[in-house]
Amino acid sequence: MTVYRFPKDFFWGSASSGPQTEGRFNNDGKGDNIWDYWYRQEPDKFFNQVGPDKASYGYIHYKEDIQLMKKTGHNSFRTSIQWSRLIPDGVGSINQKAVAFYNDFIDELIANGIEPFINLYHFDMPVALQEEGGWLSRKTIDAYVYFAQTCFQLFGDRVKYWFTHNEPIVPAEGGYLYQFHYPNEQNLKHAVQVAFNEALASARAIEKYHQTQDGKIGIILNVTPTYPRDKNNPEDVKAASIADAFFNRSFLDPAIKGQFPKDLVTIIKELDMIPHHTAADLEVISKNTIDFLGVNYYQPRRVQAKEKAIGKTANQPMPEDYFDYYDMPGKKMNPYRGWEIYEKGIYDIMITIRDDYGNIPCFISENGMGVEGEERYVNKDGQIEDDYRIEFIKGHLRYLHQAIEEGANCLGYHLWTFMDNWSWTNAYKNRYGLIAVNLDKQGERTIKKSGYFFKELSKYNGFED
Ligand code: BG6
Repeated sequence: MTVYRFPKDFFWGSASSGPQTEGRFNNDGKGDNIWDYWYRQEPDKFFNQVGPDKASYGYIHYKEDIQLMKKTGHNSFRTSIQWSRLIPDGVGSINQKAVAFYNDFIDELIANGIEPFINLYHFDMPVALQEEGGWLSRKTIDAYVYFAQTCFQLFGDRVKYWFTHNEPIVPAEGGYLYQFHYPNEQNLKHAVQVAFNEALASARAIEKYHQTQDGKIGIILNVTPTYPRDKNNPEDVKAASIADAFFNRSFLDPAIKGQFPKDLVTIIKELDMIPHHTAADLEVISKNTIDFLGVNYYQPRRVQAKEKAIGKTANQPMPEDYFDYYDMPGKKMNPYRGWEIYEKGIYDIMITIRDDYGNIPCFISENGMGVEGEERYVNKDGQIEDDYRIEFIKGHLRYLHQAIEEGANCLGYHLWTFMDNWSWTNAYKNRYGLIAVNLDKQGERTIKKSGYFFKELSKYNGFED
């Protein structure tokens, strides 16, 4: 029998986001964000044509939800403040109903012994700002800093853990390269500008935070460890390193070291795609790095050298001009999401943060398994027996524990996610929650087997097997 016990005061909980859980109801004063807008334009892009309007009814059920968090062992919980709920047009007047809602949500968490972790931006650009160019525009950076300051002023007396962005690479790649976010373009120059502007916006918010508040502020990055097909083949190793620069170090380096990776800058220069910026911007980025890091981990990236020489994809450069993906035989898959499950990846990330990023304090801010058709696993008492999710969590925690034993500065583990929620264009296809949500019954909640497991995990600060 092996005992996996985690450090004292370890954060156990889960992560979610405002746009994926809250929904939108009559007279709540929320403005449109790009998801509300895109769904109205193209409902067919969303699984079973389910949009963000009701999400998981979190706006209605949040008090009950917080009781369920307690029942599932949460000592901490992350969500985001919806920009378009708080400031419906992105800039300008503040929606007082949103202030009351978030105040009550935060107070209720604290009253129940759950530490609030609050994120500012989770893919939810207000439409009024998207019309001005979204993250391509400096106006959006200014508006974001105003939004951030407003949140710090309103809620900073109680919220001590803040995040500037969740996975900022995703709006850049989803919106401007691979077309799974609005505005659905394929334009590397735009993607680079968006990524730069997000990094700058983050640093400017951190600057304001440190001037006025006394808690901690960080960023949440989806760190996808990149493995070469053959670690003894220099061409594969080089290809993996370039992929790592594009998708991991592009945000890790400015957030933690205050600088962009040199190899990436060289490539972007060669492409003549250096984003618009000033010397003052670079100084702000270099001086305002994060206090701690949230790591989202779902899957590895496997890469091999390009079969054909580096070339431009159909007149439109892409990161994949520099590497090919490697389809490793025998890999373990989550067939519903199409993502590889590789538990050791979590250990490798922690060791990279320890060795290459000064062992900055960090925590696992997302890790989880989305499964389609979970109603197959309902037992006679109406509970979903999601043993696969329990195994998934344990498999990752064994490796996380090993990394901590070897000195990684990891302070907690948050699962994605608390209750089944709306997954962007996948809507409710894959369910990730510790709690099942029945959309046919106004979002009725039922704790899954994994929810009871999580309670024990938190209570014993670990597990044995
Ligand atoms: C993360 C995001 O990328 O993964 C979440 O922070 C998202 O917003 C989660 O829902 C799971 O991915 P997906 O695409 O299956 O919803």
